[in-house]
Amino acid sequence: MLPTFSPAASASAKPPPPRPIPGSYGPPLLGALRDRLDYFWFQSQDEFFQRRAAANKSTVFRTNIPPTFPFFVGVDPRVVAVVDAAAFTALFDNTLVDKRDILIGPYNPGPGFTGGTRVGVYLDTEEPEHERVKNFAMALLHRSTQSWPVLLRAGVDAMLDSLEADLAKPASSNGGDEKPPSANYIVALQQCIFRFLCKAFVGADPSVDWLVDRFGFTILDVWLALQILPTQKIGLIQPLEELLIHSFPLPSFLIWPGYYLLYRFVEEHGAEAVEFAEREHGIAKKDAINNLLFVLGFNAFGGFSVFLPFLVAKIGDPADPSGLRPRLRDEVRAVMNRAGNDDAVFGFGAARNEMPLVRSTVYEMLRMKPPVPLQFGRARKDFVLRSHGGAAFQVAKGEVLCGYQPLAMRDPEVFDRPEEFVPERFLGEEGRALLQHLFWSNGPETEQPAAGNKQCAAKEVVVDTACMLVAELFRRYDDFEVEGTSFTKLVKRQPAPSNLPSATPAATAAAQS
Ligand code: HEM
Repeated sequence: MLPTFSPAASASAKPPPPRPIPGSYGPPLLGALRDRLDYFWFQSQDEFFQRRAAANKSTVFRTNIPPTFPFFVGVDPRVVAVVDAAAFTALFDNTLVDKRDILIGPYNPGPGFTGGTRVGVYLDTEEPEHERVKNFAMALLHRSTQSWPVLLRAGVDAMLDSLEADLAKPASSNGGDEKPPSANYIVALQQCIFRFLCKAFVGADPSVDWLVDRFGFTILDVWLALQILPTQKIGLIQPLEELLIHSFPLPSFLIWPGYYLLYRFVEEHGAEAVEFAEREHGIAKKDAINNLLFVLGFNAFGGFSVFLPFLVAKIGDPADPSGLRPRLRDEVRAVMNRAGNDDAVFGFGAARNEMPLVRSTVYEMLRMKPPVPLQFGRARKDFVLRSHGGAAFQVAKGEVLCGYQPLAMRDPEVFDRPEEFVPERFLGEEGRALLQHLFWSNGPETEQPAAGNKQCAAKEVVVDTACMLVAELFRRYDDFEVEGTSFTKLVKRQPAPSNLPSATPAATAAAQS
């Protein structure tokens, strides 16, 4: 739990003067090492931040953040942690923080992973190249508005066909113990996301290249792992994890053959998007391809690979304590009924306007399990960081702020029953008002990505895509259950009752909008 602030303090007329930020970095090297071991070994990520917030009686405090010591030369682990919803917003203010080379923290994996280009996510808004690259990404997303839902539907269909076949296989027996049938969906989902994103975002169909089609997503997994593993807890046997994964930067050359396979694939089959970058956005060809690969692999494939499994597993929870599945199913079926066409594609319009509970559930999942939990920014100048109840902290120019979203979005000052998954939390007027505190996209859900900010370029599309995946599941199944990362039950949709309203072209178009 986070420390809370008394209403009396928030009501006081004159805000108290800024106070020094509590917490300490400990003795040189040893303090950083102690925090690193806590972070990776002795505590969960939540615990790491919760304990320090409690010890300092503050939601803004000093700590070290790994990776650090001994071989991360030049990486300064000292940060100012921010774990409440009010102070977190400083991280979205471009006048206060500089986002140069700080995507995953003080450690930057470097351009060896991105073909020598400093790609857009590592650029600050004051760098002119940021505007060019961000506009390019947003323009590509805009161009794919029509094809995105259609390609997603086709990809999800193919994935579910193969998972159904897996589930229908005879149950395996393990030393005499009969295991119930199950179909692990991680590989199928990643394959589906990869193929769909290549087509929808880059305009390149992987099926023209067997190697890319078969191994493209695995190459991206390895490429991502080499970049982020020094900052991630994996759960291997300790101290092996500390010695082998968290002690030195992992080398980029290991993935160069795979990266260049994907590079050539985009160069050849995504030539139209590359030319668009050169022609309309003034981005050189090599930089365009490296940026496309980064957005495709890191932002989009990486983001969806983390988020969608959480979402499917939560909805498919066999216990389903709030009876969520039947309610989602009814909402999705109502959209289908209104369209009068069971086969109509759920478009962005349906995801935004016609399935409020599905959308609220997706938002709640993003609140509880933000796929990119940490956000960083370096103070451009000395400034006063304001938190709830008028609490104020003096931040010095050059200090690194480290926002931890999972706690900020479970801030009891803002969210009722903050630790509970409440699918209908974002429904209605009150629910919509809470969207300003939903930060998963590196900005409030009520704001929009732009060339002048660092908010996720695909903020709307990500939520829409997740809604459409949920809708596809309930178009196809009356019910399903998930354990871990496997489907254990897929109950096919029964034929619709005959008394449904008949299809009209107008209604079909509405579902497709
Ligand atoms: C679940 C999926 C996704 C999640 C969770 C996610 C999350 C984020 C976050 C947190 C950032 C800000 C990073 C930072 O500066 O700290 C970001 C930036 C970005 N995202 Fe996403 N993203 C997702 C999917 C996508 C997709 C599908 C695309 C495009 C196809 C995309 C394009 C971008 C771009 C271009 C930026 C850089 C923004 C900038 O530099 O101003 N993202 N994303």
